[in-house]
Amino acid sequence: MNIIADAGIQTEILPLADYTFSGCVDCGYCSGLDVPNCSQDDSYTNEFLPRMVDTDVVGYVFASPVYFGGMSSQLKAFFDRSVVFRRTGFRWENLLAGALSVGRSRHGGQELTEMEILRSALIHGMIALSDAAPTAHFGANLWSGYPAGIREDSAGIRTAENLGKKMVSIARKMYG
Ligand SMILES: Cc1cc2nc3c(=O)[nH]c(=O)nc-3n(C[C@H](O)[C@H](O)[C@H](O)COP(=O)(O)O)c2cc1C
Repeated sequence: MNIIADAGIQTEILPLADYTFSGCVDCGYCSGLDVPNCSQDDSYTNEFLPRMVDTDVVGYVFASPVYFGGMSSQLKAFFDRSVVFRRTGFRWENLLAGALSVGRSRHGGQELTEMEILRSALIHGMIALSDAAPTAHFGANLWSGYPAGIREDSAGIRTAENLGKKMVSIARKMYG
């Protein structure tokens, strides 16, 4: 079952681990630009940035492993660099934002990570989503402690499915 694809919504995965970039250096270059750009010559500027200036995008699910009870440094750097989209006209405003986290401890900070992600999304003026009822909490919440990892986490997978359902139902209400 692919809830998003079945609803006719196209998806793309951008794995942060495939790209090399670090955090924002607060150089101020992007302040006042009309078109998003960044002074740092790296994967974020050359590969992410052009792909994320896409007016057809309805929303993003931001995903992270739980590292030390919160989002990974890669995702934090990603959000810090995303200030360019805020400074060039709040380009992510009113896009949908969902959160997915994976931790190896049963209560290792998955919910805190989801809230960190949604907090960052709110700073863009995005619409922060829960997963859909009946699991409705803070997003997709997975435990990788089973021998086969998250594949065995049926309760966690249900929250991920319900996040997809939530995104589809809100997208339909917004865009028909
Ligand atoms: C540096 C580091 C810190 C971690 N901290 C936590 C933690 O605080 N809580 C937790 O549940 N798991 C923690 N883990 C475990 C990862 O969240 C877990 O291995 C997760 O499955 C990684 O996601 P992946 O399987 O998609 O790579 C940590 C792992 C690493 C490498």
